[in-house]
Amino acid sequence: NTLTVLEYEGRLYPDFDLKAIKGALTFEARPDDVVVCAYPKSGTHWVWEMVRLLLAGTTDVPVVEKDDGMIEFILPEELEKLPSPRALNIHYPFEFLSKSFFTNRSKFVYISRDPRDVAVSYFHHHRKLVQYYKYKGQWQDYLPLFLEGNVDYESWFSYTKSWEEGIAQNLDQPIYVTSYEAMHEDTLGQLRKMAQFLGTRHDDEFLQQVIDKCSFDNMRATKGKNEVFEGSNSPIMYRKGKVGDWKNNFTVAQSERFNEIFEKQMAGTKAHTLYSQLNKRT
Ligand code: A3P
Repeated sequence: NTLTVLEYEGRLYPDFDLKAIKGALTFEARPDDVVVCAYPKSGTHWVWEMVRLLLAGTTDVPVVEKDDGMIEFILPEELEKLPSPRALNIHYPFEFLSKSFFTNRSKFVYISRDPRDVAVSYFHHHRKLVQYYKYKGQWQDYLPLFLEGNVDYESWFSYTKSWEEGIAQNLDQPIYVTSYEAMHEDTLGQLRKMAQFLGTRHDDEFLQQVIDKCSFDNMRATKGKNEVFEGSNSPIMYRKGKVGDWKNNFTVAQSERFNEIFEKQMAGTKAHTLYSQLNKRT
């Protein structure tokens, strides 16, 4: 019951090119970079696409995959070739972010998501990307791996606490904080605030075009053409796109166990306020 991941200096990463994994730690940022930051499966593809269109100021753009701007996946020399302003993304915990982001005051957009929905989504990710992760376990085997952080990018709990602390300690850093749930509940409102934060065009007509272009159905139909892998006939990164799918997967016992760990790990955090009120933990 293990996943194939890359271990580097005692930490777990996806099995990407080590040069890219390392390169991300010393990434050379620019002041006009915008970096979408999230634990995997928290809506990175969705929000990254929105950021890309906002920066472009138009929805009339060629199809580009989110992974083309993924800092720990693309080699530094390739990222260097991208024209400014760059729409980038990274899944690293806050303390692994390159110093250069801070000296340049690059902008971050941070997304959180209900960890139960993240767990379900990450399970499908790990199962479907079989040639990378070689994972054949069932949901009941997978959940303990997720809870213990024996997955690439490790524990959701540690990741989320690292970001909350990082945000609190770096008040000069421009960081727009949102959540997958808020993006669903008030897409236009969230997008408008994000556009204002980025200083881009934010008239309702344009924002509505962005929303339509970034809808789950549209992205599912147009993106990820190279992400359909053996054993899966559906796009891996566009599965259901809903809030609360965990309810279809967790047993009562799993949910109780999850709550216990969540309470122990997250008491007093913003994520605790968000996810224990938003969606009753039963
Ligand atoms: P589900 O597996 O619950 O469907 P990430 O982009 O960080 O890997 O997150 C992937 C999750 O975001 C998946 O969740 C995916 O379906 C969902 N997602 C992708 N594109 C979306 C979109 N345009 N709107 C809403 N959700 C989207």
